[in-house]
Amino acid sequence: MRTVYLNGEYLPEHEAKVSIFDRGFLMADGVYEVTTVLDGKLIDFDGHAVRLARSLSELDMGNPISKDDLLEVHRELARVNEIDQGMIYLQITRGAPNDRDFAFPPKDTPQTIVLFTQNKPGLAENPVAKKGIKVISIEDQRWARRDIKTVQLLYPSLGKMMAKAAGCDDAWMVEDGAVTEGTSNNAYIVKGNTIVTRNLGNEILHGITRAAVLRFAREAQMNVEERAFTIAEAQAADEAFITSASTFVMPVVEIDGAAVGTGSVGPIATRLREIYIDESRKAAV
Ligand code: PDD
Repeated sequence: MRTVYLNGEYLPEHEAKVSIFDRGFLMADGVYEVTTVLDGKLIDFDGHAVRLARSLSELDMGNPISKDDLLEVHRELARVNEIDQGMIYLQITRGAPNDRDFAFPPKDTPQTIVLFTQNKPGLAENPVAKKGIKVISIEDQRWARRDIKTVQLLYPSLGKMMAKAAGCDDAWMVEDGAVTEGTSNNAYIVKGNTIVTRNLGNEILHGITRAAVLRFAREAQMNVEERAFTIAEAQAADEAFITSASTFVMPVVEIDGAAVGTGSVGPIATRLREIYIDESRKAAV
């Protein structure tokens, strides 16, 4: 049984309870982060803390916890739950007023803050990375502020189910003819020595793994183009891959039934995955 964190307390998971009036529950009025644990340490904690602060401020929500305290809670949860490899999920909502109301509650309404661990032994050695994943394309029907990491994940969840129904692993979302991102990851293609991924804007989440991987790619003398690309361009690419805190760098070998490149995992995605895991381990806190 896990120990989780709720509003300042460490509790057994079944004792952690949130109000039915919580705006996260009623309105999806909340933001979240997922931070990876490797060797019991946190990957890119600073990046997640900075993005969290930005998500909160974009929604005019307060930040109920300091960065130092947040780090301490992450470390304590990893420690008490004996997480060697896995994730820590964090969610902050606008809190629980006494009733349902579209208008925001008064600023002094206590916010809800929840953290829990997900134990994933073997995350870094995931055998799927050796064979790659298959994706389908679907229309991007999410709201227009995907740069804010909100808990309104219904459409991404439907997208994963559409992929599953098609015998695939994930879906890449397409808007105005161009790929935005995967349901819970950023999307990339590789042509020659060039890596192409959607430019930052309100259309995609600014992935913490994305920032790290692009930095490592540039350091390894690869070219990086941050621009939109189509499904047709992706199908004609040499390689494709996704990145996220929970998948690191994961090769994509098929898009809408068409093999990408040779149809097997390519050298650039493989190399970036190795560099990402090595460097992240070294910098973990
Ligand atoms: N998802 N794009 C979307 C829509 C995401 O939900 C995520 C992360 C990413 C990658 O961001 P990062 O590299 O910071 O993890 C991109 C998390 C892992 C999740 O929802 O579980």
